[in-house]
Amino acid sequence: MTADVVVVGTGIAGIFFALNMARHATVIVVTKKERPESSTNYAQGGIAAVFGNDDSFGLHREDTLLAGAGLCHADAVDVLVHEGPPRVRELIELGVRFSREGEKLSLGREGGHSRRRIVRADDLTGREVERALLEAAAADPNIVILENHTAVDLLTTTETSSGERRCSGVLVLSPDADTPLSVRARAVMLATGGCGQVYRHTTNPGIATGDGVAMAFRAGARIANMEFIQFHPTALYPARERSFLISEAVRGEGAVLLRQDGTSFMEEYHPLASLAPRDVVARAIDREMKRTGDPFVYLDCSRISASEIRARFPNILRETAGRGIDMLREPLSVVPAAHYLCGGVLTDMRGHSSLAGLYAAGETACTGVHGANRLASNSLLEALVFARRAAEDVAALLPSLPLLEPDPVKRSHAGEAPEGVLLIHDRDEIRSLMWDLVGIVRSDERLRIAEARVRQLAARNEEFWFRAAPGPEIVELRNLIQTAVLIIRSAMSRKESRGLHFNIDYPWRDNERHLAPTILRS
Ligand code: FAD
Ligand code: SIN
Repeated sequence: MTADVVVVGTGIAGIFFALNMARHATVIVVTKKERPESSTNYAQGGIAAVFGNDDSFGLHREDTLLAGAGLCHADAVDVLVHEGPPRVRELIELGVRFSREGEKLSLGREGGHSRRRIVRADDLTGREVERALLEAAAADPNIVILENHTAVDLLTTTETSSGERRCSGVLVLSPDADTPLSVRARAVMLATGGCGQVYRHTTNPGIATGDGVAMAFRAGARIANMEFIQFHPTALYPARERSFLISEAVRGEGAVLLRQDGTSFMEEYHPLASLAPRDVVARAIDREMKRTGDPFVYLDCSRISASEIRARFPNILRETAGRGIDMLREPLSVVPAAHYLCGGVLTDMRGHSSLAGLYAAGETACTGVHGANRLASNSLLEALVFARRAAEDVAALLPSLPLLEPDPVKRSHAGEAPEGVLLIHDRDEIRSLMWDLVGIVRSDERLRIAEARVRQLAARNEEFWFRAAPGPEIVELRNLIQTAVLIIRSAMSRKESRGLHFNIDYPWRDNERHLAPTILRS
């Protein structure tokens, strides 16, 4: 199977890229579940962009740089804030119905933002964006979407003249074939989202298993800043199969965090109290829970009027009511949960990775805009801005991009598949050990123990991998293990505490030795 361009992922980054690309080329999009299933589809708060009369690009830039704790790529941040509003207008042209106050866009507020600048569609922003993008993609004759197709690995070709490797397609598991399918293309876009599933508690859907980062690493691309995992402070407790997020916008409208005895504590940690940057809030909750032994803290919404809650947070109100909680009358029980990967496949300002022919966008990419910590609602924005730039780059290069024959893939696959229970056991183990040892607060000893155990799991997985024909479960487990290794290695090499990475053995920021991204390659 061939196309000019193959895209992996149908979230905001993959579909926005495909729509822009399809003006110039044929595009195949593969996605491992049904097409809307993505983190995008669950995004609540919205998209940060400068629309307010009291706002400016300078302020959005400043807030982003401050959150990023000295590691943001300033040029990428400039691009992000300036190209944000036109991309949001394009979404409106594509049919996204954002919430309005009269004629104007209704702007929400979230932690770390000095102004109201979150463009939203009630508290279901992602679902509305995904709906409109998928409808536009379905109407485009140049786009073919293959659902329930799992990308396994990148295909590469070693050019005989230069010896350089290029990405020349993707190896894909199809539900209709016994052996993986080669999808060849002139350029490949990885838009597989994040890796929240590597942790026991996460706001991310099941698809977020770090596949894109793991595939890119195996193919030789450079991977950056994997130690910076963002934990969202307020996931509803207890969790079901996925933690339900209580949007930061709820605190933006006045909700406050309380200990179980009813006292507030965030003032003791930061002048912005419950609206402090996410890393500060998540660490403060973690500390309070460890100190008191309580399994959760409260989020008290009583300062927000019932009519305001009904108008702004209808989905959160409905979801909590479905769990028997009346948030108009009682506080919500909340805990932090893994939420967002700030690192990923290192890309330049056009979304290109260090491997020729390979692009990445959205949560899979590390464009440099988030540095050591992402500002709330900058993620959907980053996906739009850099997916568009990548599409422009591929379109300009397309006439010179070759369609190559991939190098053969070495694997035996003749043996018997491992028992399902072994795969489930290893998946559970990796998620527990990452939560306990490589979570919100780290130490050298915890990291060393985690590394040793993950290496054992990796060795067993490697044996499974070469023995059996791959199914989606083993593909995901392999990627979870690979992602865990990358997070641990990156965390071990950063001997300081900065942004989302906090190590009790180095509780200070070291601008002398660590003012640079952590970069790994295979
Ligand atoms: P995703 O939307 O996650 O899409 C990834 C796609 O890749 C999916 O289609 C998946 O099936 C596919 N895929 C993965 N692996 C494979 C494979 N091996 N083969 C084939 N397909 C594959 N950010 C904000 O800016 N504002 C918010 O308000 C906000 N709220 C959030 C709320 C929640 C609950 C969550 C989880 C995240 C939130 N975020 C928010 C973060 C933001 O939603 C994500 O970072 C963003 O949607 C990622 O988009 P993406 O296109 O990169 O990936
Ligand atoms: C939220 O609504 O709190 C999530 C926003 C984000 O992750 O940017």
